[in-house]
Amino acid sequence: MRTGEFVRSGAGAFAHQGRHFDIAGRFTTPRGPQGHPVVIQAGESDAGREFAAADADVIFSKYNRLDEARAFYRDVKGRLARHGRSPDELKVIPTATVVVADTDEEAAAYADEITRAQVSPQTAIAHLEAVWGRDLSVYDPDGPLPDVDPEPDSLILKGHSVFRKGRAETARKWRELAEERGLSIRELVIEVHGGQTFVGGPRTVADAIDHFVQTDGADGFVLVPHLTPGGLDDLVDRVVPLLQERGVFREDYTGTTLRDHLGLRPRTPVKEDA
Ligand SMILES: Cc1cc2nc3c(=O)[nH]c(=O)nc-3n(C[C@H](O)[C@H](O)[C@H](O)COP(=O)(O)O)c2cc1C
Repeated sequence: MRTGEFVRSGAGAFAHQGRHFDIAGRFTTPRGPQGHPVVIQAGESDAGREFAAADADVIFSKYNRLDEARAFYRDVKGRLARHGRSPDELKVIPTATVVVADTDEEAAAYADEITRAQVSPQTAIAHLEAVWGRDLSVYDPDGPLPDVDPEPDSLILKGHSVFRKGRAETARKWRELAEERGLSIRELVIEVHGGQTFVGGPRTVADAIDHFVQTDGADGFVLVPHLTPGGLDDLVDRVVPLLQERGVFREDYTGTTLRDHLGLRPRTPVKEDA
């Protein structure tokens, strides 16, 4: 066995020798009904996308604006062939929040109310501190952005994907946006972090979700309720039936495992000897 290689052999025996572990033994639990577990990759650097293209079944996406989502989708799907895989072997799944009301106008007002409740004045300052890497508690959330520059070496939230391009650049972009639109700290944070993905009456939301998927923005969504409990009720009761009517949402489960529900094919385990 080469160093770093993970080998399973008959009846659940395994052995691994690498930089961090040197282990051998026997699994005491049987393989799950779905065979290989569903591997979900959360990350969007070049290395993260490549890792997903080579090995994952699902990649999360942080993009829920359609143009950005489609660029991400095209990029990751385009990487699969190099790894001997077809595009449908990796599902691209962003998170989405959905706010439904009787009319588009009512839904917009309700979404605005929810977003303001989620981004309280304190939350707005905390978001800003994560980028600036320093204590900003003396600043007024309803006032302009701080005139001090971010602390480049602060350890607060290092590694978070927002900061990949660097604190200074994120701060510069946020300042530009705030100045251009005359936004306070809280309004800016709502603009950047807040906001619900799909907002409208049931038909508007069904159209938007369907359009997002049909035009290659995503293969599906991780739905995040905007309120707990009950935050998905309107979606389930009023939008899902419309999606089912147009044949883009299942009416019944066709399998019993997560792998089945995601429409993923069975996958061969890492390596198996007879
Ligand atoms: C869209 C997206 C979703 C993520 N979801 C999670 C998560 O659910 N749990 C978690 O611990 N980290 C999550 N992360 C954080 C990443 O796993 C982490 O920042 C990782 O180091 C980023 O990898 P990258 O260098 O490829 O961007 C997520 C990151 C992104 C971009």
